[in-house]
Amino acid sequence: MRVAVVGQGYVGVTGAVALARQGHHVTGVERDAARLRSLAAGRAPVSEPGLQDELSLALATGRLRFTSGLAQAHLREPFEVVLITVGSPPAGDGTADLSQVAQALMDAAALLPVPYVVLKSTVPPGTSDGLLGACPHLRDRYAYNPEFLNQGSALDDWTSPARVVVGIRSHDGLPLLRRLYGAPTCPWVVTTPATAEMVKYASNVFLAMKISFANECARLCATPELNTDHVMQGVGLDPRIGHAFLQPGLGYGDSCLPKDTEALAHWAAARGIPTPLLDAVIGVNRAQPGLVREVLRAELGEGLAHSEIAVLGARYEPWSDDMRAAPSRVVVPQLLDEAAGIRIWDPAMAPADLTRFFPGARPCPDLRSAVRGAAAVVVLTEWPETIEADWAELAAALVPPAVVVDGKNCLLPERLRDLPLVYRSVGNRLPARAEASSAEETPSPAPSA
Ligand SMILES: NC(=O)c1ccc[n+]([C@@H]2O[C@H](COP(=O)([O-])OP(=O)(O)OC[C@H]3O[C@@H](n4cnc5c(N)ncnc54)[C@H](O)[C@@H]3O)[C@@H](O)[C@H]2O)c1
Repeated sequence: MRVAVVGQGYVGVTGAVALARQGHHVTGVERDAARLRSLAAGRAPVSEPGLQDELSLALATGRLRFTSGLAQAHLREPFEVVLITVGSPPAGDGTADLSQVAQALMDAAALLPVPYVVLKSTVPPGTSDGLLGACPHLRDRYAYNPEFLNQGSALDDWTSPARVVVGIRSHDGLPLLRRLYGAPTCPWVVTTPATAEMVKYASNVFLAMKISFANECARLCATPELNTDHVMQGVGLDPRIGHAFLQPGLGYGDSCLPKDTEALAHWAAARGIPTPLLDAVIGVNRAQPGLVREVLRAELGEGLAHSEIAVLGARYEPWSDDMRAAPSRVVVPQLLDEAAGIRIWDPAMAPADLTRFFPGARPCPDLRSAVRGAAAVVVLTEWPETIEADWAELAAALVPPAVVVDGKNCLLPERLRDLPLVYRSVGNRLPARAEASSAEETPSPAPSA
């Protein structure tokens, strides 16, 4: 099939590459000149495991090309299907900004002959019906088909989805969609566009709820007699619950859950529908990055001002360069507001990028130089370099009170137990050193992130 994929971000590039691998002739359409140049030169514009290799392979087969001109490409050789994977970022007030979606849909609707149009961007319930009002000729040639891929496993998720959700007005398009996706054997939910739109939001809100629940649980477990890791392990082993998205941390900070939870809350508020659970999920998440400041205030007291703090990692996840809602973007400004001196290191980010995202912080070329002479370390990314570091050496390089705040709960407590540092995590994973000997016999409350 001849397929256009409009919008070459995380979803669009993944989809274009995967569809070309499947044997379709794919044109990736991108309006951003720098991104288009990168794609045309064979460089993946986003960081995603396996994507660069698959992009190179797809380009070598000649089944994948890129352009900024959807209409011109369609004129040369019409597309059977146009997939829309443009952004739906948060507007200033938290609602979904649908301008990219509206523009891309109007561009696709203007094509002759009329292609089949599939919108994959996440949009509030009712968006498709609203937009289709302006292009009724697409009514039977349109599907809303949300994308559920996770960054970090995007290609696999696209190729082997757990389910396909399709919102259509006419079932005539189903055979075409099955051909497009190579008839995956997973269940298909075929429904109306508005319902399919709601499936995507409801799914993301549920995942966000699991994370906020884990974080609230970790607060409840932050006493020496409770072991957060064991509690989450025990809860997650229930097959009705599962371990996924049950890891305490500094809150969900990918590009989807923050914006989608907020957008659905606004959508409901505009209709006068109360959402106490959703509001609580969002509230827990907003407060979560503040735990770092809370712990450092408790441990360093007045000394926090003008203390040197080493921030290890700026990315939300090591494998993703998506910084749109990374907790580091809240944690670092909060610590700078306390007049702390911030050194920041991230092995995947150039000093210029660190300075751009964190003005006022000092970028460091390596982990050791970031830590040397600091009074506290804050771990914000699960970098193997951080987890596997020689923590005895790092502890010796710190100055008292040598606090380590593990915002990802990724350090190995047994490696830190006897070191001259104060370890704090999200929930009480290990008693602080000063309390370690007595904590097992006489539990006492310990401040904990
Ligand atoms: N990122 C994810 O993990 C993920 C997962 C599932 C669903 N989604 C949803 O998929 C959509 C896309 O997400 P993303 O993270 O890939 O977005 P993104 O912002 O990374 O990429 C969107 C791209 O579309 C381009 N674009 C916008 N309008 C265009 C137009 N008219 N013509 C050509 N190019 C255009 C932009 O320049 C940009 O490169 C969003 O609605 C998002 O909520 C994202």
